[in-house]
Amino acid sequence: MGSVRWGGAVLLAAAAAGLAAGPGRGALPAAALLFLLLLLLLLLACARPLELRRGPGQVGCLPVSGLSRARRPGATPPPYPNGWYRLLDSPQLPRGAVLSVALLGEQLAAFRTQDGQAYVVDAYCPHLGANLAVGGRVLGNCIECPFHGWQFRGEDGKCTSIPYAEKVPDFAKVRTWPSCEVNGMLLVWYHCDGVSPTWAVPEQREITTEEWVFRGQTEHFINAHIQEIPENAADTAHLTFLHGPAILSGTDLRYTKSKLWDFMKHIWKAEWQPEPEPNKHCAQLLVKHRATVFGKHFSLLDLTVSARQVGPGLVFLIFEHAFLGHGIILQTVTPMEPLLQNVVHKIYYQKNMPAIIPKFILKAECIQFERDITIWNNKQYLPKPLLVKEDSTIQKHRRWYAQFYSEKSMKFTAQEGLDW
Ligand code: FES
Ligand SMILES: [Fe+2]
Repeated sequence: MGSVRWGGAVLLAAAAAGLAAGPGRGALPAAALLFLLLLLLLLLACARPLELRRGPGQVGCLPVSGLSRARRPGATPPPYPNGWYRLLDSPQLPRGAVLSVALLGEQLAAFRTQDGQAYVVDAYCPHLGANLAVGGRVLGNCIECPFHGWQFRGEDGKCTSIPYAEKVPDFAKVRTWPSCEVNGMLLVWYHCDGVSPTWAVPEQREITTEEWVFRGQTEHFINAHIQEIPENAADTAHLTFLHGPAILSGTDLRYTKSKLWDFMKHIWKAEWQPEPEPNKHCAQLLVKHRATVFGKHFSLLDLTVSARQVGPGLVFLIFEHAFLGHGIILQTVTPMEPLLQNVVHKIYYQKNMPAIIPKFILKAECIQFERDITIWNNKQYLPKPLLVKEDSTIQKHRRWYAQFYSEKSMKFTAQEGLDW
């Protein structure tokens, strides 16, 4: 990337010199150089990964005053299902670094030892409550509190040193969170009963071997219960209605059905089903996408997507295109608060395909996803929805998803707040 930038600078200087030489013999080479420069800049822009981050409230909130105040979220299931959740991307936590992270209504401290091992612990020091991630240091395999210097071991949270005390009590411990690093992400395991991980996050071989390379990511914040997001996969009837209008018509639901873009349509065929043991925490959605332009099938946009939901917070969407190759979008859904979800989509695609292809796929997916966000941000969760026979997979999905709640899962009601 750096050499392309240098090349651009050299070309720019040469073109400027050519133009400065006046309209005579230098003008033609200067124009050619300028053209080359523009081409280089275009190539540079196309090769860069797509980065699209939307802050809370930036998407899916129609400008109707008082709408959010009037919203009643409904009798939602417990806000934090048991499972693995993305905490951060591995490169965000270099060796020796400590980061403060919030999720599941908790404050955590993530740190990486000089050996490269990442650990996640509660942010608040059990001594007097200082935040370990604000001024704390990594020492060996421990994190040192910035207040009185107590040191806690990453593996089990045990306090190994109190600089001014004769003896370290056995019970001096900070709570640790099981974590793993897979597919370029650091994930944490949450279980309301403190049960250890019951399944592992699958590794996507093509990402590890770099057969598929990173081509961009999007980030969104959604004001809805986490279950609404995966339930969308089992709600196959909404595909034609919400995602049928061409992506050209954008994300604002007031205009997506405008006549202007009526000449193009997306056609979806989808099937959702849970996986059997030992993968009962997984479910599969098979989607076949076709597009029509002026009623004629446009085969270039034929795409088969197999979306595998793994636990409550991870989805692996594998793309197959007849001649544009293979790739994956990793979707992670992490509850920040009971009705606030952080959703990240990362695309990895065959290295030998121009970056513009996966960037287009991610952008198209993002447009469709933002239509869903408008629905989620404003809807109510209905524990007893009024369904017809054709909606039966929605109930099937709810029965499947119920495995991620335990009897002791904390409850949430909008009026009363959290209940343990
Ligand atoms: S508050 Fe952490 S060592 Fe005192
Ligand atoms: Fe959707």
